Amino acid sequence: MKASAPGKIILFGEHAVVYGRPALAAPVTQIHAEAEVSDSAQAGIWIDAPNVELHAELNTLAPDDPLATVIHNLFFQLGIDPFPSLKISIRSTIPVASGLGSGASVSVALIRACSGHLGHELTDEEVNAFAYEIEKLHHGTPSGIDNTVVTYAKPVYFIKGRPIEIFRVGRPFTIVIGDTGISAPTKESVRDVRKLWDADREKWEGVFDRVGEIAAKAKTLIENGTWPELGPLMSQNHTLLQEMTVSSPEIDKLVKAAEKSGALGAKLSGGGRGGNVIALVEPERTEAVANTLKESGAQRVIITMIE
Ligand code: PMV
Repeated sequence: MKASAPGKIILFGEHAVVYGRPALAAPVTQIHAEAEVSDSAQAGIWIDAPNVELHAELNTLAPDDPLATVIHNLFFQLGIDPFPSLKISIRSTIPVASGLGSGASVSVALIRACSGHLGHELTDEEVNAFAYEIEKLHHGTPSGIDNTVVTYAKPVYFIKGRPIEIFRVGRPFTIVIGDTGISAPTKESVRDVRKLWDADREKWEGVFDRVGEIAAKAKTLIENGTWPELGPLMSQNHTLLQEMTVSSPEIDKLVKAAEKSGALGAKLSGGGRGGNVIALVEPERTEAVANTLKESGAQRVIITMIE
């Protein structure tokens, strides 16, 4: 049984989303994680995940290892006892710790492949709930946006604790994604923003409100198909992320370079401090912006359509 899940970008609202403000995220189908589960003649559950240099039997993994936790939680919930002998192969083209949803995508692919192999088809809602539990290991206090967009593989307007809202894209638009090549754990940036918030809640609630307003406005523009107006909103959102201390010199360099080469707006996407930058481009500027990002130090560039 094989299953796969896409990567994702956050278009607007990261970090503020942890504090109940809305955020917009979209799948990136050019990158994905894949899990394959089959019966094994060798006793035990053997996991092969070359991207994270893992080839081990389940019981030799640390109890809080995310892959081990996915399997233990799932088997427990499905009432699988004793565990069968299985071979699990995990492959991913999503760079880790770079804000593209690699952890959530691996979890979703693994949950679907394992449950499918064991004859328990899960609903998207169930897959999402399992994946959220694992996100807590990756992120500390996650909002749940990553697992949601990756599970449903559709653009989502996300407010923590509210029913999932899949939003309509009035007119598809192009995003260029540039990778700083710096991996930065989301857990740390989320923790640092919490420290700021703890020290001055009034100030940061105000900043999060502004981010939330941007995300809400962006949703209306996307639904109406007036996406060129998203450019300035992206840049405003990036300024607020800088204020939250989650940008970095490398990110700012790519954001500036994208804007200079004709992007309508650009911002970091995800946890920040490293990871990826996204730039909104008119179709005819795509190549120019992609090339400029590469010349400005982007380790890789992905061009994707939000549709
Ligand atoms: O996984 P990342 O790096 O794309 O970050 C997720 C977005 C945050 O808002 C920073 C954290 C969260 O849980 O929502």
